[in-house]
Amino acid sequence: MNLSPRRYHITTFGCQMNKADSERMAGILENMGFQWSEDPNEADLILYNTCTIRDNAEQKVYSYLGRQAKRKQHKPDLTLIVAGCVAQQEGEQLLRRVPEVDLIMGPQHANRLGDLLQQVFDGSQVVATEPVHIMEDITKPRRESHITAWVNVIYGCNERCTYCVVPNVRGIEQSRTPDAIRAEMEELGRQGYKEITLLGQNIDAYGRDLPGVTETGRHLHTLTDLLYYVHDVEGIDRLRFATSHPRYFTERLIKACQELPKVCEHFHIPFQSGDNEILKAMKRGYTHERYRQIIDNIRELMPDASISADAIVAFPGETEEQFENTLKLVDEIGFDQLNTAAYSPRPGTPAALWDNQVSEEVKSDRLQRLNHLVATKAAERSQRYLGRVEEILVEEVNPKDATQVMGRTRGNRLTFFTGNIDELRGKSVKVKITEARPFSLSGVPI
Ligand code: SAH
Ligand code: SF4
Ligand code: F3S
Repeated sequence: MNLSPRRYHITTFGCQMNKADSERMAGILENMGFQWSEDPNEADLILYNTCTIRDNAEQKVYSYLGRQAKRKQHKPDLTLIVAGCVAQQEGEQLLRRVPEVDLIMGPQHANRLGDLLQQVFDGSQVVATEPVHIMEDITKPRRESHITAWVNVIYGCNERCTYCVVPNVRGIEQSRTPDAIRAEMEELGRQGYKEITLLGQNIDAYGRDLPGVTETGRHLHTLTDLLYYVHDVEGIDRLRFATSHPRYFTERLIKACQELPKVCEHFHIPFQSGDNEILKAMKRGYTHERYRQIIDNIRELMPDASISADAIVAFPGETEEQFENTLKLVDEIGFDQLNTAAYSPRPGTPAALWDNQVSEEVKSDRLQRLNHLVATKAAERSQRYLGRVEEILVEEVNPKDATQVMGRTRGNRLTFFTGNIDELRGKSVKVKITEARPFSLSGVPI
C-alpha cells in the first residue's frame, strides 16, 4: 500500500469568484490530508475550476481536460474533478464527452467538496449540479496571497443580461449574513491579512434576500450598511468591493466610500456599451447618461478616484455608429483600466439565438480599436501619479526583478520599488512615483 500523502493540483479559470472558490476547495482538500503539487503531472487529484463566460474560456478547459484524461489511462487512481461554471452548464453531458471524469460539481457545491469526494472514493461517479442553499464553510481556505484576500458576500445573480451565462451557472442571489462575513474578516485580520475585497457578481444586490426592512422600506442589510458594519475589523487596512452594477449603484454607497477611511477610492463598474439601444438590447436597465452621472457623482466627492469597467464590442446588431458611442464614452470618461471582449454567443442565453450576429472580422477590428484607445487613455490617467507620494501596500517580490517589491496604490495601480520583501511584505510604504506606464508605476520610498 502506498502511504505517501496524496497530492492535488487545482487550475482555476475565470473570475475572482472562481478564484475565491478554488481557495476554499484547496482548504477542504488540505483538511482531508492532500498536499499541494505544483506540477499537475505529479498530482493524484486534479481539479479544474472552470469558466464559461466566453467560448474560448470553455474550449481551454476541454484541451486541459483531454490531456489529463489521457494520463488517467496509465494512472487509473488519478481523480479528475471538473468544478465551476462549465461543470454547471454541461453537467452529465460532460461525462459523455470525457468519461474519465470522476466528479462534476457546480459552483454552488464548492463548499461540499469533502462529501462529494467521499462518494467518489466509495466508488461512484458523481454529478452535483442541482441548486442548493450555500452552506457556510468551516475549513480555512488555502489563500494565494498572505496580504490580500477575497471574501464572498453574495453568490449568484438575479439579472438577465441577454448575453450572459452567469445566472444560469451561478444560480439565484444568496447573501451571507453580516456576522458570517465579519467573522471571516476578523480571522483574516488575526492571520495578518491587510486588504480585503468583498465579492459578488452584482454586489449592489447584497442583502436583498436577507430578512428585514427599515421603516422607510429600505432593506436593512445593504452593501453600504455592510461596509459600515465591517470597516473597523482589526488589522485590515484596506477594503475594496466588486462588481458594481450601474442600475443599483447608490449615492449612499458613494458617501460611505468617502467617509470610511479604509474603503479605497477604486470603483469597478462595468458599462458594457456606450449606446442606449444596445444597452436596452442587453437588458442592462440604465442609459449611458445615467452611467456618466454615477461617475460624475463619484468624482465630485472623490476627484482622484480610479474607475475601471468591462465592455463588450460587437454585440448582435451593433452598428459602426453604436460602436463609436462606446469609443466616445471611453474617451470622455478616461478609465484607469477597462476589460474588453468581443461578444461571444453563449448556450442558453437569448442573444445567442438572434439572427443579427456581427461577423468575426468586424469583432476583431472593433476590439483592436477599443483596446488601442484604452491603452492611450490609461497612459494619460497614469501620468497624474507622476511626482506624487502614494501609499503602497507591499504584496510580493517583483517576479521580474528580485531587488524590487511590488504592491498597489489605493487606486489599485500596480507599483514597483527597490526593497527587501522579507522586511516589507504587508507594510504600507509611502512611495514617490518617478515613472508612469499605462498600467503600472515605479517609484522610490520616502
Ligand atoms: N457581474 C458583472 C460581470 C460578469 S462577467 C457585471 O454585471 O458586469 C464579466 C464580464 O464578462 C462582463 O462584464 C462582460 O463584459 C463580459 N461578458 C459576459 N458575457 C459575455 C459574452 N457573452 N461575450 C463577451 N463578453 C462577455
Ligand atoms: Fe451577467 Fe448581468 Fe449578472 Fe453581470 S449582472 S453577472 S453581466 S447577468
Ligand atoms: Fe466565468 Fe463563472 Fe466567473 S463563467 S467569469 S467563472 S462566474
